[in-house]
Amino acid sequence: MTRTLGVLISGRGSNLQAIIDAISVGSLDARIGVVISNRPEAQGLERARQAGVETLVISHKGWPSREDYDRALVAALTARGVGLVCLAGFMRLLSPAFIEAFPNAVLNIHPALLPAFPGLDAQHPAWQHGVKISGATVHLVTPELDAGPIVVQAAVPVLDGDTADDVAARILREEHRLYPEAIRIVLGGGWRVEGRRFVRGSPAR
Ligand code: GRF
Repeated sequence: MTRTLGVLISGRGSNLQAIIDAISVGSLDARIGVVISNRPEAQGLERARQAGVETLVISHKGWPSREDYDRALVAALTARGVGLVCLAGFMRLLSPAFIEAFPNAVLNIHPALLPAFPGLDAQHPAWQHGVKISGATVHLVTPELDAGPIVVQAAVPVLDGDTADDVAARILREEHRLYPEAIRIVLGGGWRVEGRRFVRGSPAR
């Protein structure tokens, strides 16, 4: 896998910013080959431009099928030598065709401790449920939503008196630390996938 990242976004791009910052301070040895948004108004596009990273808007609208859209994404990423795709608030489900183009090389960040609370806007249902601990997960992407092998997780407390927004903000701070760490681990190699599990180190004897 090359150390060239492709980052897919749809909005704010604060996780993209965390990756840009980790690269610029030298704590992550990688480069971002391209940032792609499916929405032209995504704030993250400006963050990429500020960092001198190439940006592309590839709208999901108007394609005959999801696979056609995904093939356009794959073509843009492979043309730029991307070896690891990082989904950072990209609000689209990817088809198996996309995932097969980057075997075990698509990462996603999710604002809950998976497998609890998969799906959209996970911080709010977790808070509503009254959980005492929540957190963030970075996982390899498989065709099943939010269900791929877990690379790293971080937990945060949910305190009495917290609003759902307080919890979301606490999780987001952890996300920003966690995503660069997960990328470092995946690029570092020496891991494998056993069933659902992401396993580091040498195989057990
Ligand atoms: C984050 O909470 C991430 O976990 C989820 O979408 C949000 C994206 O935020 N997948 P940002 O665009 O990185 O600021």
